[in-house]
This record gives sequence, C-alpha cells and structure tokens, in this order.
Amino acid sequence: MKILIINGPNLNMLGKRDPNHYGKLTLNDINKELKKRAKNKAKLVFYTNNEEGKIVTKIQRSLNFDAIIINAGAYTHTSLAIHDALEMFKGKIIEVHLSNVLERESFRKVNFINSLATKSFIGEKENSYYKALDYLLNN
Ligand code: DQA
Repeated sequence: MKILIINGPNLNMLGKRDPNHYGKLTLNDINKELKKRAKNKAKLVFYTNNEEGKIVTKIQRSLNFDAIIINAGAYTHTSLAIHDALEMFKGKIIEVHLSNVLERESFRKVNFINSLATKSFIGEKENSYYKALDYLLNN
C-alpha cells in the first residue's frame, strides 16, 4: 500500500505553535513515528508545503496512490482547489486535524475536505495522524 501524507500551511512550524491546540511534537517527530508504525506494511511518502497550488499539483501527480492522509491546515476551510483535486482521487482520503476544529472559531467549521473523506480524525493532537495510519493499515 502506497500512502501520501500531505501537510499544508504552518504545519512545518509544529513545535512552535500553540501546544494547547497542536501539541508539543514537531512534524518531523510525528513523521518518524508514522514511519515506524508503517514499517514494511506500507510505503509512506511525505509532502509538506505552505502553498495551495503546489499541494494541488502534488495531488494531481499522485492519483496512483492507494490512500492520502491530509491535514490541509487553514486550506481546509478555504480551498475549493484542493477539494477539486481530491475529488479526482479514487483511493481512500483520510482527513486529519491536531486540534478540534469543530470546537474553535466558527470559521473553522467551514470545511472543503470533509465531504470527500472516508474518515476524519480530529482533535487528538499527534494521535490523529497515528489513528489515520492505523485505520488504513487495518481497513
Ligand atoms: C489544523 C486546524 C486548522 O484550522 C488550522 O488552520 C491549522 C491546523 C489542525 O491540525 O488542527 O493550521 O488543521
């Protein structure tokens, strides 16, 4: 199984962002743990970018993957372009958020990804990512 793990804007800054929302780990810490958990069960490709168009292009070039785990960061709440790119993807899409976007500001309740997601893991800090991977490895 080939899984693309996409992280959008500001997720490269984990470790420096508000720990109450996002936890204390860096993205590198999280990715290392994901790699360990996937071992020889899945091939993980990590893509982190702050730019919307680059994320769109990456999705377009990855339509042959079996699954995408995506934390689109703020683009979750704004990006019709990422929604439309994901709409072409035939595999499983797992949505991830470290914080509980449903219990924060009302603008975070707007979500362009949720309707395309097979499953969403929200508000469990780094465990949201680990649960997303576990879900794909077991389903
Ligand atoms: C986030 C939640 C978004 O609202 C926010 O813009 C982020 C991170 C999360 O993982 O909790 O950058 O996707």
